[in-house]
Amino acid sequence: MTVKSSNITAVPHRVEREERWRANGHKGGVLWFTGLSGSGKTTLAFELEQKLFAKGYQVYVLDGDNVRHGLSGDLGFSPEDRIENIRRIGEVAALFAEAGYLVISAFISPYRDDRRLARQATDEGFHEVYLSANLATCEGRDAKGLYAKAHAGEIPDFTGVSAPYEAPEQADLEIDTGKLSVDESMALLHDYVAKAFHLSGDG
Ligand code: ADX
Repeated sequence: MTVKSSNITAVPHRVEREERWRANGHKGGVLWFTGLSGSGKTTLAFELEQKLFAKGYQVYVLDGDNVRHGLSGDLGFSPEDRIENIRRIGEVAALFAEAGYLVISAFISPYRDDRRLARQATDEGFHEVYLSANLATCEGRDAKGLYAKAHAGEIPDFTGVSAPYEAPEQADLEIDTGKLSVDESMALLHDYVAKAFHLSGDG
């Protein structure tokens, strides 16, 4: 990204990334969930966090509704605000990953460009997971009643209704949460994590 300030110099850490990985027993990185509201991002993220933590992982969820109460409390859902929301999350996720964590981020993140920038922030170790339940399925669930409100014109810029969602063209993992149960989806995620964050003998 472009940096506004001059007269700033980055300082290297004295703890190597691999030392952190060895201490944790797994690689750090980001599992970036993307999908429509109601596609299961939050449900799967917190379930996976609990399971992985019980297995000894250093794992932490960054979730849309939570982050919008704090770090992104000043942002709404206009295109500009969503871009800034995802920029902040991308940078925070990258910091957590640097610190050795397995970060699970659960944001609609509707724009491809923003997800690409988030990937760049973390670099290696970024995994895009598309929860591909379609709009009809998500609208049918409408757990928070937001689709009904959006259709009634009470929520402007609602993703899938009055704001776009750009599906990933080549996600690292796609889970059709419209067809698979939570347990089936969890099994796929678990297998993926076991491989992608595995610390090889020499790593
Ligand atoms: S993002 O587009 O910037 O990635 P984010 O994941 O942080 O969105 O927030 C999405 C959550 O905010 C939804 O799950 C829903 O609960 C709530 N929400 C409120 N207004 C909107 C809206 N206009 N569009 C989508 N989600 C909204």
